Amino acid sequence: MLKRIATYRIITIITCTLSFLNALVYFSMRCIWSGIGKTLNNPMIPDLLLIVFVGVALATWLFAWLRWEKILMVVMLIITIALDVGLFFIIKLGASDYLHFIFREFVDALIYSLIIMAIFWVIFYYSTSKLAQMRVVRSLLMAIIILGTLAFALGLGINKLDLYPTVYAVEDEYQIIFTTTTDATVWIEVGEDTYYDLYAGSQKSESKVHKVSLPMSALDEAKAYTIHIQQILMRGPYGGYKGREKSYDFNFRPVDTSDGFDYYSISDIHGKRDAAIHVGSYLKDKLDVLFILGDVSSFLEKKVDIELIGRVAYGITKGEIPVVYARGNHETKGVLADQLYRYVGSKNEKFYFTFRLGPIWGVVLDGGEDHLDDWWEYYGLAHFEKYRDEQTEFLEAIIANKNEEYQAPGVQFKIALCHFAIPYVHRSGFLADIKANWTELLNEIDIDVHYCGHEHELIPIIPGTFTPNTPLVYSNPLYTTKKSTNEGHFTDAKFPSFVVSKHDDDQDIVNSQSQLDGKMTGVASHVDADFTELTVRFTNRYHEEIKIVDPFGPTNYGTEIAILLN
Ligand SMILES: [Fe+2]
Repeated sequence: MLKRIATYRIITIITCTLSFLNALVYFSMRCIWSGIGKTLNNPMIPDLLLIVFVGVALATWLFAWLRWEKILMVVMLIITIALDVGLFFIIKLGASDYLHFIFREFVDALIYSLIIMAIFWVIFYYSTSKLAQMRVVRSLLMAIIILGTLAFALGLGINKLDLYPTVYAVEDEYQIIFTTTTDATVWIEVGEDTYYDLYAGSQKSESKVHKVSLPMSALDEAKAYTIHIQQILMRGPYGGYKGREKSYDFNFRPVDTSDGFDYYSISDIHGKRDAAIHVGSYLKDKLDVLFILGDVSSFLEKKVDIELIGRVAYGITKGEIPVVYARGNHETKGVLADQLYRYVGSKNEKFYFTFRLGPIWGVVLDGGEDHLDDWWEYYGLAHFEKYRDEQTEFLEAIIANKNEEYQAPGVQFKIALCHFAIPYVHRSGFLADIKANWTELLNEIDIDVHYCGHEHELIPIIPGTFTPNTPLVYSNPLYTTKKSTNEGHFTDAKFPSFVVSKHDDDQDIVNSQSQLDGKMTGVASHVDADFTELTVRFTNRYHEEIKIVDPFGPTNYGTEIAILLN
């Protein structure tokens, strides 16, 4: 076949290769197609471009096959180069944050294309090639096919921990979540007790993802746990074969507020695992609990995207301290989005719940997507309005049941977590009613503090420094901005909130943030042992404390914001 290719003109070979790669690159950019449509104000454009890229590639290959190689191939080369330039601008203008997704899709598409080409070659050319005459090659090919099929059919492989554990806090239980390299059954020993990953009474074994729930009190007391994993080689109806059992020991440190309560909040990691682990490790051994506030991954297209949440959590906590996770709007996107609840702390497959960690009580809310349900990018599959209403009822039920919730004996500090900033309504007015409503309910609960992300900015929202329901204007001279003078409004929140998401080294918005260079921020909080004062410090990738101002007012806080608690 190579000899046959060599008979083509070089310009034909280049045009065929380039047009094919262009089509693959454009196909791999699916995650930003809607952005192209939005920018050019026509949702049809991405589909038309797909037709153009695939059409040009097919036409080029057809002309090459027909040996129409002269002027026509020069024309096709010019068109192909023009499309190259187009691709370059699309990537430069709107795809830089999603490059790793595009590259990953491109590699996949290239591998599948090469496999198809190899099959084509085997069917049409292999039998006449010299390789087919060689006994060694034939035997090797056969051995690979048989062994590959057997390993795939029986799910064979080396079983070990893949994603190391994270201890998620949900209500009064810990959900210990990890994955194994092969399907396996698992159990966890805590002190004298054993806890399993069960389905209706029997141990699950046909999954690589494992969630074992156990009472907080058991692990808080034992301060250690052992994970056991075992592959079930054959799970027959009346007999089976098991693989070797392996075990892994972990220490655990429950929340201890005798030296004060120290916790770290991080949000909008968007795939930057190492930067997030580094930034989130600011408090080192003092860390009592980690809050992850969503958008860890930009889309949940592959297992690796969901597992990133656990990898960041384990990277910071080593499975030794509790983590609370709030879902981000980006984690509603992607083909695996409906599997997320198996990989993180969740309640009834949903992402709103309360949690109790010693004297700390908290509520986690999930705002869903960041446009109305009928927004065209959701193609009719979004029903978050109902989901948010469900959470209004959930907050009302908490208030009705306050003596068992936030007014239960021993509760000293109350936290609300949500990917969206509950007291911050954008100028579009999106979620204005629900945010006003939730604010009122959180006021009623008398929340001490709220943490959120999503905005990709660092904003302290402190009651007494703003007039509720009044247009916000970026007015602090230290906060340079090109934004409009109406940035929406704050609700009538009686509790302080901290927006903790920005890919930068400082707060000023004029420094363009980029997700490519490892810039990341988060928030370290400390409550003193008698729960009279909360101090909040925004920190960056150098573990420096960032100077913070009120973007909408004259206050310059310095590197520490102190809040007196009731
Ligand atoms: Fe977000």
